[in-house]
Amino acid sequence: MDLKQLREDFPALCEEHPVAYLDNACVTLRPHSVINAISDYYTKTPGCGGRSVHRYGTTVSKTIAQSRKTLAGFFNAPSVNEIVFTRNATHSLNQVAKGLSWNKDDIILTTDREHNSNLVPWLQLEQEQGVDHRVVPSNADNTFDLEAFESMCSEAGNRLRMVSVSQVGNLDGIETPIREITKIAKDYDALVCIDGAQSAPHMPVDVQSMGIDFFAFSIHKMLGPSGMGGLWGKEDLLNSMRTIQSGGQTVKTSHYDRFEWAKSPSKFEGGLGHFAGMMATGAAIDYLSKLDMNQVHEHEINLNRIMSNGVKDLDGVSIIGPEDASQRGGICSLLLDEKLPAHDIALLLDEVSGVMVRSGQHCVHSWFNSRGYNGSLRASAYFYNTEEDVKRFVDTFSEAVQAFQ
Ligand SMILES: Cc1ncc(COP(=O)(O)O)c(C=O)c1O
Repeated sequence: MDLKQLREDFPALCEEHPVAYLDNACVTLRPHSVINAISDYYTKTPGCGGRSVHRYGTTVSKTIAQSRKTLAGFFNAPSVNEIVFTRNATHSLNQVAKGLSWNKDDIILTTDREHNSNLVPWLQLEQEQGVDHRVVPSNADNTFDLEAFESMCSEAGNRLRMVSVSQVGNLDGIETPIREITKIAKDYDALVCIDGAQSAPHMPVDVQSMGIDFFAFSIHKMLGPSGMGGLWGKEDLLNSMRTIQSGGQTVKTSHYDRFEWAKSPSKFEGGLGHFAGMMATGAAIDYLSKLDMNQVHEHEINLNRIMSNGVKDLDGVSIIGPEDASQRGGICSLLLDEKLPAHDIALLLDEVSGVMVRSGQHCVHSWFNSRGYNGSLRASAYFYNTEEDVKRFVDTFSEAVQAFQ
């Protein structure tokens, strides 16, 4: 990867004194091509896709169809009809949880380190419909405990209906062994839903070879516009699933006393959509498609190694997850003792040296609450970050830690 050239594509990195943006697990920066695609919609074709037949409408429809095709190719989805545009990964996971029909004795397994978006919809289902939601405990180092999972599947037996796990955790960057999980879950005929918010931007994803049923992703974490996410699902499952938003676009036709559902993806994309977002998604995925995602993953691990080695021996600081950065992708998430206030340090990092990180519980409240921690300070790298960025983080963070001791 020619980093210097890649960075020129991102206006935020072309400032005279560019920030060291290390909050990529939350939202990524956007390249010119994405910004231009958003602007093109509003300036050149500000019409309604999917319905109006005039030139604006036709261009919007065609560009959105192309974005869907590009996404299908990126994830190796068998059909464009399996790619649903949503507002974000949260919306996608809610669509799965609330779109399927459940029985009271159904068992749903998640893990003890899921983002709220892959926990709360299942807890809500348990509260409202009485399904049995169970949490698979992780190993002591936060990696996935395949043995515990296998024994919980066996205990659930034919009541096991759904396994929903993140492919990569936003808490710690740890990757979950999806193929092994799917193999076991399928022995019990359970569905497998993957929260891919933190994997899709950072590594090759092939929805077919993983053997899964659903894959939720965040387009704003993949260089795309805010307010955009997606859901991939097997076509027959999508077509048999309820939409959580009915109305315009979701039906083939309606009468005063009945209606006929449209098929996927229309059924799930009710109401006038985020056209600029859908169009610019194509530009974002085109950009990612030109990169070698294996190289992206390696680059992030190299940067994480510098961060992890630079901070691991500091007093009052410990890394969440295995010490070895290769098991945590681009995420370096740090637990700090009570003398080191994470929010204050995050503010200081930005003010003193333009290093942007995230502090808090990162929507994984359940993990922090169960262990009595207030939160962590998380630095997360992407392909456009440089060694200089992460060294700046290490240096300023180390100084801050000393200052607070
Ligand atoms: C692992 C994980 N799942 C789900 C989400 C929610 O994503 P979105 O903001 O697209 O709803 C996030 C966001 O940080 C995440 O990291």
